[in-house]
Amino acid sequence: MATPVSIEVWNPNGKYRVVSTKPMPGTRWIRLLTDQDCRVEICTQRKTILSVDDILALIGDKCDGVIGQLTEDWGEVLFSGLSRAGGRAFSNMAVGYNNVDVNAATKYGVAVGNTPGVLTETTAELAASLSLSASRRIVEADEFMRAGLYDGWLPHLFVGNLLKGQTVGVIGAGRIGSAYARMMVEGFKMNLIYYDLYQATRLEKFVTAYGEFLKASGEAPVTWRRASTMEEVLREADVISLHPVLDKTTYHLVNKERLSMMKKEAILVNCSRGPVIDEAALVEHLKENPMFRVGLDVFEEEPYMKPGLADMKNAIVVPHIASASKWTREGMATLAALNVLGKIKGYPVWSDPNRVEPFLNENSPPPAACPSIVNAKALGLTASKL
Ligand code: GLV
Repeated sequence: MATPVSIEVWNPNGKYRVVSTKPMPGTRWIRLLTDQDCRVEICTQRKTILSVDDILALIGDKCDGVIGQLTEDWGEVLFSGLSRAGGRAFSNMAVGYNNVDVNAATKYGVAVGNTPGVLTETTAELAASLSLSASRRIVEADEFMRAGLYDGWLPHLFVGNLLKGQTVGVIGAGRIGSAYARMMVEGFKMNLIYYDLYQATRLEKFVTAYGEFLKASGEAPVTWRRASTMEEVLREADVISLHPVLDKTTYHLVNKERLSMMKKEAILVNCSRGPVIDEAALVEHLKENPMFRVGLDVFEEEPYMKPGLADMKNAIVVPHIASASKWTREGMATLAALNVLGKIKGYPVWSDPNRVEPFLNENSPPPAACPSIVNAKALGLTASKL
């Protein structure tokens, strides 16, 4: 039985009822919906993760579209509930949609939106921050200062790793992985080794050109190599960042055996999805290898950490904040709202889901299109000519 939930309502007389399961950053997303005759209901329940029953109660008997979150279980039950309420539009406020059963949505004729393009640099910047913080032991050193333990400079105090001239490894060189690779190569003059099923041509060209520029300036050039196996990256890189999508093939991609291939002083960063790493095996590895360090933004069973992880000084842990810059989070809210609005209005689907600037420009109305619908083909939705 669905439980009652508290809501905030905008434009109560709007024709289309759109529900957001969470308050989202910014106000533009609300205005874009209310300007187009939507009544917007925002769930204000003080509960971080809504249950399926909570969301069914929010959907009610008549609902045209829902904006949901990656913490929610969007499967058969919710899509059939939304469809019964007359709704054919859903958007995750996230680029990843492993919480969504897209086949179930398609079965009920519901479009599933996501929010790529706007997260790329922000997420890559967090991966870079974790790489730096782990290399230079920033969190341990900060805790030491706050504990009043600093009583003078010492030659051995918090000695970490130098990045310049070392090798950065990227597993999954899509948009975020490539942006991270560029930051590390350009900012710290690291050499690149990457593994991806597809060739990252633009990234390779960039590293080649930057290497030539450095050489012409009398500095050691940076280099790149596309590895033929993931294991090569694990063995050779000094800092490794994981950027694959989570699916059956990437579940526990980094396990006990693969951890043991990595250098003893390597740094491992994960801003993708928690289950890509076998977290219990990682805790054991951290215990046995005190110089091995990790920076984690995501966890196998969020919001929990596997036993022992929180005690490890060689682990930096942050609460899934990779996309948490103001610009990105407001942009995600806008794109999610426009996915839902576009489907309600029968707009076509934008041709390149990563080219999002026209939707984010506050000084002009957004294009009449859904920014990104992952099951557009399966639903036979029209592609925008714009
Ligand atoms: C965040 O993790 C996202 O997928 O957007």
